[in-house]
Amino acid sequence: MKTYNPYNNVLRVVEQAASILGYVPSDYEAIKYPERELKVSIPVEMDDGTVRVFEGFRVQHSTSRGPAKGGIRFHHDVNIEEVKALAAWMTFKCAVVNIPFGGGKGGVICDPSQLSEKELRSITRRFTAAIFPLIGPEQDIPAPDVGTNAAVMGWMMDTFSMMNGHSVTGVVTGKPIELGGALGRSEATGRGVMFTAKNILHKMNICEKGTAAVVQGMGNVGSVSAKLLHQCGMKIIAVSDVSGGIYHKDGLDIPDILDYLAKDRKNLLKDYKANGIQYITNQELLELDTTLLVPAALENQINEENAANIKAKVIVEAANGPVTIEADEILRQKGIVVVPDILANAGGVVVSYFEWVQNIQSVSWTEDYINQQLKDIMDNAFQSVWNISEEKQLPLRTGAYLIAVKRVVESKKARGIWP
Ligand SMILES: NC(=O)c1ccc[n+]([C@@H]2O[C@H](COP(=O)([O-])OP(=O)(O)OC[C@H]3O[C@@H](n4cnc5c(N)ncnc54)[C@H](O)[C@@H]3O)[C@@H](O)[C@H]2O)c1
Repeated sequence: MKTYNPYNNVLRVVEQAASILGYVPSDYEAIKYPERELKVSIPVEMDDGTVRVFEGFRVQHSTSRGPAKGGIRFHHDVNIEEVKALAAWMTFKCAVVNIPFGGGKGGVICDPSQLSEKELRSITRRFTAAIFPLIGPEQDIPAPDVGTNAAVMGWMMDTFSMMNGHSVTGVVTGKPIELGGALGRSEATGRGVMFTAKNILHKMNICEKGTAAVVQGMGNVGSVSAKLLHQCGMKIIAVSDVSGGIYHKDGLDIPDILDYLAKDRKNLLKDYKANGIQYITNQELLELDTTLLVPAALENQINEENAANIKAKVIVEAANGPVTIEADEILRQKGIVVVPDILANAGGVVVSYFEWVQNIQSVSWTEDYINQQLKDIMDNAFQSVWNISEEKQLPLRTGAYLIAVKRVVESKKARGIWP
């Protein structure tokens, strides 16, 4: 198997879209390179009195359509190539849903499950100080991603504000509601996944009631996706987390599983007990016989090694980059429809955009209003991607990139190369 480099994955998809659009290389040369990559060292005094130094990154892929926007990942495997890819996906995600942001991403190599809250807070504050010159409401606006949450965003906002001498709520999104967080933000990515799943099932003439679905990953995105798909009447036959998966052919009790996971952030599915469930591996979960598969964990989950074994009719990419470019082709030949990440999981950044708009205007919107605006944006973006893909007889991923790359390239052309 080839070494997986997610940034090369992005470049290949972008180059393919640019060539279909008829661009010459100099039209899109600049978007092949991130605008900025910052690597920082984060010394932290641990609870036992020792000092550990963590490595962190912030990458701004593009700011041509607006400030860089994208999450912060705390994970033991995060690396610069992954952060570059995640930053680029943000650029094209913001473009496909047409919100006025570019793309950025950050990460710290650490395992939050092995850290106390005090250690996590110290890492967050020192990391924020280290990337301070790059971030700000008009420059670059972080948000939660794998291993980070609203509490981490609250500490980032506080650190940035302390260093500025006044409160700056718009520097991060996904904050606690008390600090200007948007109502519905914590559920927004999963809600967008649910809207997207309904849209694609509708186009494929599949009724969602009783339809089998599988969700990989039960973090922020996966758990909300599972909850909302279950509420739509779908039969969630399997879910998983880093410890493995659980399966029941007649459908799992999703509210009970969510209660169990919410009780303690250290609870894992391998220790969940219920009548009739089977414990399976993440690999077995991906290969289950299901109508809908929602990978909501990490990238590179469906690749050339297992793509031939996938039995789902449709995959909605809730995670970023869960299907590799090689797997995409195998799935296409098998007739499996893939709704790409830059469209399917854009709900989070759309509501982050609403949060930022509210923060910079000092206004607040109701949750119903936010959810309705989110639905409108997700439905319109889905329809545009569907239309162009149908018209050109191309996979939905290519369709999404045709729209996104065109918006980014045209913004760059309109601005020109400085100086
Ligand atoms: N949080 C957001 O708003 C947001 C928005 C858009 C996209 N995403 C993407 O969605 C994905 C999940 O993000 P999240 O915020 O839910 O993260 P999270 O940290 O809340 O949850 C991650 C989940 O994946 C599981 N997991 C970790 N490693 C795994 C492995 N090797 N196999 C199976 N499961 C594993 C974890 O146990 C956990 O259940 C990521 O790709 C992220 O970039 C997140």
